[in-house]
Amino acid sequence: MRTLWLLLLFIYEAQSHAVSTPNFVLLMADDLGIGDPGCYGNKTLRTPNIDRLARGGVKLTQHLAASPLCTPSRAAFMTGRYPIRSGMASRSQVGVFVFSASSGGLPHSEITFAKLLKNQGYATALIGKWHLGTSCHNRTDLCHHPLSHGFDYFHGLPMTNLRDCKPGEGSVFTRALRLLVFVPLQVIAITLLTLAVLMCLGFVQVPPCVFFCLFFLAALVLGALLCFLHYFRPLNCFLMRNRDITQQPMSYDNLTQRLTADAAQFIQRLGPKGACIDLKEGDDEEEEDKKQKQKQKEKKKQKEKKQQKQKWKQKQKKQQKLKKQQKQKQK
Ligand SMILES: *[C@@H]1O[C@H](CO)[C@@H](O)[C@H](O)[C@H]1NC(C)=O
Ligand SMILES: *[C@@H]1O[C@H](CO)[C@@H](O)[C@H](O)[C@H]1NC(C)=O
Ligand SMILES: *[C@@H]1O[C@H](CO)[C@@H](O)[C@H](O)[C@H]1NC(C)=O
Repeated sequence: MRTLWLLLLFIYEAQSHAVSTPNFVLLMADDLGIGDPGCYGNKTLRTPNIDRLARGGVKLTQHLAASPLCTPSRAAFMTGRYPIRSGMASRSQVGVFVFSASSGGLPHSEITFAKLLKNQGYATALIGKWHLGTSCHNRTDLCHHPLSHGFDYFHGLPMTNLRDCKPGEGSVFTRALRLLVFVPLQVIAITLLTLAVLMCLGFVQVPPCVFFCLFFLAALVLGALLCFLHYFRPLNCFLMRNRDITQQPMSYDNLTQRLTADAAQFIQRLGPKGACIDLKEGDDEEEEDKKQKQKQKEKKKQKEKKQQKQKWKQKQKKQQKLKKQQKQKQK
């Protein structure tokens, strides 16, 4: 499944074997609707692993998200409180963190379930996307980082998965850029043209410094646009392991596989008591495909065998008939 690379994965590993502290894994997928997994009735998308989990457990059919956006709904998911209570429900149009330089984030006064579990002796990890803020004052303090919210280990995207992070996939900022760049440029161009025409016709006397200022302004706006396009990706699309940046800008090549492998490693590092869940939806599908193809091949072979048998029987019948006819003729 394409959406699955955005898994937010929390793994909890009990340090003791007490019955009251079971291990658990929580998966959170962005942009996955209830109509998408096979266990909820989808016939076109195959999700064998999710379906298997549903078959072996409990399938809930009613859920309300606290918000339709990642930042506020993740804040609610993490704390069990409405996002407006933690200040994570923005009134602005954007509503989510878009720049890693934003100084906000999930407040420390909030109690995430990771904090509660850590206090109970659990080892906790978050693998995947965080998107609840990173730093307060400068980019090194990482005060809103997952490690500051009860997680022992973090590997993934501190920000989010924007189109702008993939080269050639377009931008989510086209409307903002139109308003902040293209409209001002058009205004400057029209002003310049009008002034030039009026001056040529002799209606007004425009000092050259006005033209210079307008050109300078246009160059400034264009320069800002180029800087934005050039620096957005490296500054906002990066991968971190704990407090270190491990890939900047991040590459989407095998990202799901890399994060899945790391999640499995986290479980293995903690020993055999860890619950092991196969997240490799893709691989499983391939295996299923192979199995189905093999089944189809076997069916074909069986059909061919049947046909051959039938042909052989028909031949034998014909031969018997011929023999009978010959015998009759002889008589
Ligand atoms: C299955 O998922 C696809 C992709 O989201 C969707 O287009 C389709 O309508 C879904 N089918 C059902 C029966 O919900
Ligand atoms: C970043 O902020 C923290 C906390 O305010 C401070 O201790 C640290 O010195 C700052 N680092 C830099 C490089 O300014
Ligand atoms: C991605 O994974 C596939 C299969 O494991 C591998 O063949 C390919 O080289 C990997 N690509 C990158 C860029 O790592």
